[in-house]
Amino acid sequence: MRSNLNNAIRFKYHQLAQGVRFGYHQARNLVKLDLGQRLTSPTLVANTLDQDDVKIAKSELKNRDHWFRADDVTVYEKTFADWNQSSYVFAFMGARVALSASIYALNLKPGDEVIIPGYTCVVVLNSFRFAGIKAVFGDIELDTYGLAAECVENLVTPKTKAILLHHLYGLVCRDYEQLLSIAQKHHLSVIEDCAMSTGAVFKDRKIGNYGDIAIYSSEQTKVFTTIQGGLAVTNRKDLADRLKGFYSQAAYPQEGYIDKLLHTVFINYFSFKHPHRWWREELVQILHEGKTLRSTTREEEQGVKPAHYGCRMPAPVARIGINQLRKIDAYNQTRRETSQNWDTWCRRNGYQQPFVVPDSTPVFLRYPVLVEPENKRDTRWAHVSPGVTPGVWFVSNIHPVAGELKSCPRANTAVRRCINFPTLLF
Ligand SMILES: Cc1ncc(COP(=O)(O)O)c(C=O)c1O
Repeated sequence: MRSNLNNAIRFKYHQLAQGVRFGYHQARNLVKLDLGQRLTSPTLVANTLDQDDVKIAKSELKNRDHWFRADDVTVYEKTFADWNQSSYVFAFMGARVALSASIYALNLKPGDEVIIPGYTCVVVLNSFRFAGIKAVFGDIELDTYGLAAECVENLVTPKTKAILLHHLYGLVCRDYEQLLSIAQKHHLSVIEDCAMSTGAVFKDRKIGNYGDIAIYSSEQTKVFTTIQGGLAVTNRKDLADRLKGFYSQAAYPQEGYIDKLLHTVFINYFSFKHPHRWWREELVQILHEGKTLRSTTREEEQGVKPAHYGCRMPAPVARIGINQLRKIDAYNQTRRETSQNWDTWCRRNGYQQPFVVPDSTPVFLRYPVLVEPENKRDTRWAHVSPGVTPGVWFVSNIHPVAGELKSCPRANTAVRRCINFPTLLF
């Protein structure tokens, strides 16, 4: 009885504090308006979300009876396959899960070794860890931040079974063709991590179609978004059959998870994209408190497999994916156009432009630049000019987990110096 009363008082106090904070922030915004100052700046999250996606999310929250029907997921997979010029596509709840499915499809076994770039995300490493596979880190090049071909041959041992190459920031990796031929020479499979470069083209074909199997992400910071989501793609029938085996036994996420994901669609839209997010962000956060989905849990960052890991994509998420795919080319075109302004900024400020591989068309999810280490440690200079908040992917070799890979000096340079500018400037 007493504890109920305490909880009620605490709740009222919390609401009051939220109201006061909201009032204070909006008063501050009015002063800024009066002074002619900007109220919002471009963000790095969820910027392909629009009102139409919010509408879908709201309608899905109201009609829950068809959440676990497979047909719209199949439409999503088919739409992606056609758009990506690929034969077989399977939709999961994250590129990390698609990678686990790929590891299964390639029949990689505990004790096998896979060469991966020493400049990646912890969830990529986790997919190998969860399968008992040893990741061997290769250094990157600093033109496109991809795996450096010259480092790879020295790392091949009789236990090596595959190479994971990645295309970062929307670019096509510099040593693409060399890596493919090294893999062929040593009879290694190639996994392409296209999580950041969905839609980039090399020699008239979308990336991801050159290796054996590829993964794509629709997480909330990626080229297109379903908040959380990923695809495993292959053109090989034998691998497609094995991917299907993994997929068929994968569970759907629980209702509570899907509920949170759908809420995150409109929380993120009003927080990061809406032109009036200067006041709507805080309001939507208050109204839907506790409903935001985190991309990576703390336990995942520590290498622990979360309970909800390994799921396939359910229909409501696929419906948002279908809508996102309608817009992806237009957004990528805008990104490419914005990147030309960043080229000019680099030339004027004495920084090197990212390298565009001949015969490639990048999508510039972000525009990466190597700046002085102090300008990465504290990026507030960029708020003033050029007037954006840069991203800091990656802050460590196995982002965001602290620690340095001594064997990857160029990756360490990127960790110290690579920032990235937004390319959708809403
Ligand atoms: C290069 C790269 N690969 C894979 C992933 C995993 O993507 P997802 O969040 O969809 O699992 C990420 C995540 O940020 C990434 O940056």
